[in-house]
Order: sequence, then structure tokens, then C-alpha cells
Amino acid sequence: MKSNFRPWLWLPPKMAHDFAPYGLKFWSLFSKKAQFSSKLTVSWKGYQFKHPLGIAGGVDKQGKQVLAWQKLGAAFVEVGTITPEPQTPNPGTIILRESSSESLWNCMGFPNDGSQKVKKRLLKIQKKIHIPIFLNIGKNRNTPNEAAHEDYLKGLESFKDITSIFVLNISSPNTKNLRELLEFENLKKFLSPLQEYKDKHKLQFLLKLSPDMALNSLDSLVIAAEDLGVDGWVLTNTTSTRPGGAHSFPKDRGGVSGQSLKPLSVKFLKEFHQVCLKYPKKDRLVISAGGVAELSDWKERAASGAHLAQVYSALIFKGPSFFKKFY
Ligand SMILES: Cc1cc2nc3c(=O)[nH]c(=O)nc-3n(C[C@H](O)[C@H](O)[C@H](O)COP(=O)(O)O)c2cc1C
Repeated sequence: MKSNFRPWLWLPPKMAHDFAPYGLKFWSLFSKKAQFSSKLTVSWKGYQFKHPLGIAGGVDKQGKQVLAWQKLGAAFVEVGTITPEPQTPNPGTIILRESSSESLWNCMGFPNDGSQKVKKRLLKIQKKIHIPIFLNIGKNRNTPNEAAHEDYLKGLESFKDITSIFVLNISSPNTKNLRELLEFENLKKFLSPLQEYKDKHKLQFLLKLSPDMALNSLDSLVIAAEDLGVDGWVLTNTTSTRPGGAHSFPKDRGGVSGQSLKPLSVKFLKEFHQVCLKYPKKDRLVISAGGVAELSDWKERAASGAHLAQVYSALIFKGPSFFKKFY
């Protein structure tokens, strides 16, 4: 299919989002299977990535698009965020698009079918999956922060037979108070009960951070989290701020992604890299997300210490043939 043919941009954003799993399946049927040069391969703890670019959390919230993205050339797919119990979206508008700034705004709040249904869905296709799958897990909105670890334990239990790579999402701005778990003492209390389970089942934990976090205390947070079992980092989630460009979005709620997020995300990655240089650690995985849309973006992220990168907004503005740029 022609890469400049983007009919979903004619639809209201919510309708385009709901239609995506079907449209994508259809699109992938008419796309050639991607072939990659072995020069681009990344390996980490026994996982092989054909190239460094994959699908960010939230694109395939329900585990319905894995095979389509695999065919369209994504090197890995992060499914979720999944919560233990099924959940409806937040009330009101949940997604907006600003074409002039190639940015998205969302206030979804982890709508999903719940872990049991998504697990069944993934088990059905498991044999056909040949790329690494990450499971992004979260808590239900009614679970208080003090009990959040119980929801994450349920997530690990549900999906440990599907993957060993889990993204712990405590950085979404769309679940009330969730980001408080990123505060130093709360983070330690949150991670401690997960560590034993992780070690027992030989899981890998990636912690997804917010671009709105204070950068001056990053050192201590990274060290504490890695002591408690965090193996890698996804940098970053959407921003609650309204950086350049994103003028049309509501200011009091939701998170911005895409080109308006890019400068914040790059700045965060660069600061994080300084921490990594100061405290080197074998096999620490750094994944960049936030406004990756061109090959030049990937080159900048790689030069700033990222081993992999993820995309969401660029798939909307550039189209699902996005990964062709990388082969
Ligand atoms: C509509 C939408 C839904 C999202 N849902 C999730 C989610 O469920 N879990 C998550 O960890 N991140 C979610 N994200 C954040 C993305 O994974 C990513 O961190 C962010 O969009 C920055 O990447 P981008 O600039 O390429 O979009 C969502 C983003 C968007 C735009």
C-alpha cells in the first residue's frame, strides 16, 4: 500500500482508534513481509530484536494486533496496559489529534478487557509470534496505591507464560494519583513485594517513567529501583504539561505525545544517560519513546544511550508502513 494513503486521518480520532485493529489486519494482508538486514539486530538477555524499533504501550491495548505488527515489521510489540479486571475508559473525550503539531492527546485510563481475556487471546496466537512481546501491566482505577502491588502481581501471574518481559506502568497521567508511586519511598514500597516473584519466575522488569519527573533526583531513584529488580527503562510516557505546539488540547487532564513531547523526551533520555555513565550496569536496557518519527530520531536516541525505541504517534501520522524506513 502507498505510504501516503492515510484514510484514518479523515475519521474522528476515537473512531479511528476503535477501527484500528480491523484496518490494520486488512493493511497487513496487502503488505509484503518485512526483511531486515542483520546489521540492525539488537540482542538483550537472550532476546533477539531484528532492529531497534517497536510498538509502544497503548497501541495494542488488547493483544489484538500482534500478528499484524509483526508482519508490518515491528521488531517487538508491547501489549497493554492491561489491568487485572476489565475496565471502561475514563468518561468524556479520551483521544484528540493535532495534525499541525503531529501530536496526540489522550485521557484513556487503561480501558481493556482484563488480564484473563487478553491472556486467552494471546495464548491462541502464541505459536505464530516470532518477535519479543512485552506485557505492559497496570492497576485498576479503584485499587488504592497502597495495594497497587497486588494488581501488578496479578498481572505478572497472568502473563508469565506468555513473556518474561514486563513493563511496569506507574507513569500514566490518566489514572488518579498513579504517578505518586514514582516518588522515592512509594516506589520502594511498591517494588519490594514484586521482587521475590520476579526472581522466582526469572522475569525482566522495565519501569516506564514520566517525562514530568524531577531530573535532579534521578540518580537515587535509578539506583534504588535497580536494587529492587528493575532491569531496564522505558523513557518516556506522555506529558501532563503542554509543550510547544500542543495548543488545542485540554490543559487540565490527559497526556500529550508525538512531536510536542519529543524535546522533553530527548532531554529526559540525555539526563538519564548521564546517570547510566555515572553508574554503569551490565545489561541495563534503555528504551526511548516520545516523538520518534524518522530515522534521524532513532539515530539521536541511539547517540543518547537508547538501545531500542518505541512508537505510537508516528504510526498515526505516518501510517502503519512506518517500519519500512528501517529496512
Ligand atoms: C492514545 C494513546 C494511548 C496510550 N496508552 C498507553 C498505555 O495504555 N500504556 C502506556 O504505558 N502508554 C500509553 N501511551 C503512551 C505511549 O506508549 C508512549 O509512551 C507515548 O505516546 C510517547 O510516544 P509517541 O510520541 O511515539 O506517541 C499511550 C499513548 C497514546 C497516544
